Amino acid sequence: ASHVDGDLVNVLFSEDDIQQRLAEMAAQIEADYEGKDILLVGVLKGAIMVMADLSRAFSRHVEIDWMAVSSYGSGTKSSGVVRILKDLDTDISGRHVLIVEDIIDTGLTLSWLVSNLSSRKPASVEIATLLRKPDALQMSVDVKYVGWDIPNEFVIGYGLDYSERYRNLRCIGTLAPHVYS
Ligand code: PRP
Ligand code: MN
Ligand code: MG
Repeated sequence: ASHVDGDLVNVLFSEDDIQQRLAEMAAQIEADYEGKDILLVGVLKGAIMVMADLSRAFSRHVEIDWMAVSSYGSGTKSSGVVRILKDLDTDISGRHVLIVEDIIDTGLTLSWLVSNLSSRKPASVEIATLLRKPDALQMSVDVKYVGWDIPNEFVIGYGLDYSERYRNLRCIGTLAPHVYS
């Protein structure tokens, strides 16, 4: 029993699935960035859980910073409007920046963010996202690390919200239509 019984249609990824995939991604990232300092840039708020677990899956030093941007209102649809709610604390010029995201949906947030960060003269900018919805993409985004590609359904949990709820679920699942209809 949990506090969301009935709101989840089905569990797509369990806590174990997620930890295992993040460990694989961290190992790949470590190999690719050998000898380079990495600055992980998490996108608030959705990326909080991915950042916490991905960063701890590294066996090496990484730095962490955060940006807050928002492409959604309170509903389930992407508005296409990206706003900076909180900028980085770090000067990223000359840094190897790895953006950490929970999900790429339309791609609007990430394509905007990549061009914004690229203009600050970093040594590199890449993206690591736990989830991606290929069928929802409106802007092509070059993503180096993807946990899983998923169907175009509304997913919640592990940082992903519906109207700010469900972020604290340990698993990722699909939201029952009765919740939002
Ligand atoms: C969600 C998600 C991504 C973005 C992806 O964030 O966490 O950041 O939308 O959507 P896109 O590819 O269509 O741009 P949201 O704007 O809901 O803010 P949140 O992370 O605070 O929930
Ligand atoms: Mn987000
Ligand atoms: Mg959201």
